Amino acid sequence: MLVSAKEMLTKAKEGKYAVGQFNINNLEWTKAILLTAQELNSPVILGVSEGAGKYMCGYKTVVGMVNGMLEELKITVPVALHLDHGSYEGAKACIEAGFSSIMFDGSHYPIEENVEKTRELVGICEEKGMSIEAEVGSIGGEEDGVVGAGECADPDECKMIADLGVTMLAAGIGNIHGKYPDNWAGLSFETLDAVQQKTGAMPLVLHGGTGIPADMIKKAISLGVSKINVNTECQLSFQEATRKYIEAGKDLEGKGFDPRKLLAPGTEAIKATVKEKMELFGSVGKA
Ligand code: 13P
Repeated sequence: MLVSAKEMLTKAKEGKYAVGQFNINNLEWTKAILLTAQELNSPVILGVSEGAGKYMCGYKTVVGMVNGMLEELKITVPVALHLDHGSYEGAKACIEAGFSSIMFDGSHYPIEENVEKTRELVGICEEKGMSIEAEVGSIGGEEDGVVGAGECADPDECKMIADLGVTMLAAGIGNIHGKYPDNWAGLSFETLDAVQQKTGAMPLVLHGGTGIPADMIKKAISLGVSKINVNTECQLSFQEATRKYIEAGKDLEGKGFDPRKLLAPGTEAIKATVKEKMELFGSVGKA
């Protein structure tokens, strides 16, 4: 059964480790992540972006697929199904569809509107026993061809949003989605420390988990990060394994296109990436 991310993240914050959020795109991705979590006895969060949700034929299909897998694969570790960077409408659709957790990314709204919408969604999630993540200070990336450090959140704004009763808070601390540029300034531990001091026991979320050096990940966890999102790294390992398979001409063996064979090396590569991250984040054995 899917669970809210609240308990697993509260335990992670207390125990000074982080639970990985791995984004899913299809059946193979999902199966690889769930099997790895079970094998390592680790709690896990499956992230679904709105785009991935559409690709997988809508949120109801995702819920059906994940619930089916939990049963058929006999998954007993805590699993949360979480909307990643949800819009207001997307958040409501996922609540309806049976997700156990949502992120409402109101960071692009003026702070008053972000507060108002977050408050409403917090109320609904509380009623349904779901967890909710909010974001303050947008996560960086490329803008007009210039790649810079991600934006840093204002610790007072973080406190304001945390006080609305969200389960976990994503604060921008110079992190970026996708690959980090060579001239990346690194994470702002000063900002993270200030946010953690203002928000106390609130589990903090680090987006853009791909490509952050291990020592920075560990330091971020020591300063209150209890959930780390990883997406690009799974895509890259899937891509590399699939390319090798095709370059070796393996896809031409056999009778014709067989997804079970073609997607197998990529699926194994995702398992290896998820295992490496769970070990780094310290969530192994914490289910
Ligand atoms: P990466 O794609 O950089 O791993 O970031 C994932 C993420 O933060 C999803 O919300």
